[in-house]
Amino acid sequence: MATSDQPESSGNHYFDAAPTTESRRQTVSLALPDLGLSLVTDRGVFSADRVDAGSKLLLLEGPGPVAGDRVLLDIGAGYGPISCALAARNPQATVYAVEVNERARDLCRENAIANNLDNIVVAAPDDVPDGLVVDRIWSNPPIRVGKAALHELLLRWLGHLAPTGSAHLVVQKHLGADSLARWLEQQGHTVQRRASRKAFRLLDVEPISPTTHSTPTDRDDSSDQ
Ligand SMILES: C[S@@+](CC[C@H](N)C(=O)[O-])C[C@H]1O[C@@H](n2cnc3c(N)ncnc32)[C@H](O)[C@@H]1O
Repeated sequence: MATSDQPESSGNHYFDAAPTTESRRQTVSLALPDLGLSLVTDRGVFSADRVDAGSKLLLLEGPGPVAGDRVLLDIGAGYGPISCALAARNPQATVYAVEVNERARDLCRENAIANNLDNIVVAAPDDVPDGLVVDRIWSNPPIRVGKAALHELLLRWLGHLAPTGSAHLVVQKHLGADSLARWLEQQGHTVQRRASRKAFRLLDVEPISPTTHSTPTDRDDSSDQ
């Protein structure tokens, strides 16, 4: 059975910039202990049939809101389950929902409005201001884009973290969560495993400290991504 992160039978990927798959909209629920959201999804976007189990786990077991946070970023926002939950939990902050897939971006905007969340900025990656300083990154990152593209994506956005910031990632174990954690450490990040549940790991990643003397490398001794 195809899972939510595999290509559709049409050969399209959820990370295509402009999906051509015929639209078939539906509504899914995101039920968390502190909030409930109703979200519109469509074919051609990631996990259209239900909120992805990894994204839900991240929202259930990730850290609570930090009072002083002003800017949050969701890398690969999809139709917005993580972005909308963050916006609801952090009304004082602006949530940047960054996404390559324009159908997903449109859904994310629609879901923000439908859930009365006016603190979400939905953007294509290159439309995010260069100098944006981010307090907290939350992401179910697009592992399926391939290791090189994933590494480039993470280096780009982790570079926006404030010195006191952190990133919270959910990654499937069988898609290389542990080798990704090792690679991040090789780049100079401190990585803590917050939780390991069923198929997923939750990783807490700190920004590279200016005093850290690391030798970044793209070498990775495993082949499990
Ligand atoms: C694993 S999905 C998670 C989607 C959403 N956060 C969720 O929980 O349903 C990863 C998302 O990253 C998007 N993506 C792929 N490459 C990207 C890139 N370079 N920049 C931003 N988003 C990207 C994909 O289109 C996809 O929507």
